[in-house]
Amino acid sequence: MEPWQAGQSALDPAGPQAARILALYHVHHRVSAIVYALVMLALLLAVWRGGRRTAVADDRGTHRTLYGLVTAAGLATVVVLFGLLVVSIGTGRALSRLDDPDALTIQVTGYQWWWGVEYQDQNASLRVRTANEIHIPVGRPVIIKGTSTDLIPGHTTTRWLQADRPGVYRGQCAEFCGLQHAHMALLVIAEDEPAFRAWYSAQLQPAAEPADAVGLHGQQVFAAQSCVLCHTIRGTLANGMTAPDLTHLASRRTLAAGTLPNTRGHLAGWIVDPQSVKPGNHMPSNGLPPDDLNALITYLGGLR
Ligand code: HEC
Repeated sequence: MEPWQAGQSALDPAGPQAARILALYHVHHRVSAIVYALVMLALLLAVWRGGRRTAVADDRGTHRTLYGLVTAAGLATVVVLFGLLVVSIGTGRALSRLDDPDALTIQVTGYQWWWGVEYQDQNASLRVRTANEIHIPVGRPVIIKGTSTDLIPGHTTTRWLQADRPGVYRGQCAEFCGLQHAHMALLVIAEDEPAFRAWYSAQLQPAAEPADAVGLHGQQVFAAQSCVLCHTIRGTLANGMTAPDLTHLASRRTLAAGTLPNTRGHLAGWIVDPQSVKPGNHMPSNGLPPDDLNALITYLGGLR
């Protein structure tokens, strides 16, 4: 199993932004632990003292001490909560820092239930479009502009991130967005600059032409089916915009937003019956004759 398949952990940061969030977590965790210990101590003390005293003393001195204690505890609570608020706001501001001119900007759009990814560039022909998988160069700041067609349409959330070391990291939809919310993951692949450059220029290319007769037949099957209404394969007539771009499908590690590994068998299973893999998702089932299905997955498997 690869590390990203084991899940995600906020306790194992791999970049300065994630490290800030972890530091905030530690502050909250420690302060809460101390407050909890003090409250428990006070409770035990009260139980112990209450048990020893049978009659409640009704002298003014005790009342005054109690009054003082409660006031002090109330004040301490306000001070602690205010302190935590200041630290949280500080972290929030640091996370949305946008002052690096060398930053890479990636537009990420949430659909039900997959991620559209577009790398921004002044020059439209240098914009990479893909889905469910983001590649970033290690050590370079990245601005993620998150938006959604289904959740808060038109609202853009900006996040700044940077990977300190190469690796494959898993991300997950964090706002409940319907039936398949849990099957809406995305992978971030951090790699060194040359590897990132190579990936980027490969993604800019139109789709690979089929390598053999079976692949060619698969290309015709794709073009003749409804697939083209929803999916784009650049370099062909398929230019649907409501589903993941398949131009370089075979270069990705997973299918259906992290739901299945990208293997021949899973690809066939997905195309025939996407509804039992991810019930309610917006891709219809396809009852294809075996030869056509075989050719189709050969074609799609060649889209590196
Ligand atoms: C009505 C629109 C629609 C049609 C028609 C359609 N799809 Fe899809 N397809 C989708 C959507 C939406 C997704 C994303 C589903 C999800 O992950 O929630 C998807 C996902 C996929 C994926 C996985 C892509 C990825 O990167 O995870 C493949 C492969 C795929 N479709 C192939 C096909 C093929 C082949 C056909 C034709 C036989 C087809 N689709 C027809 C809408 C469609």
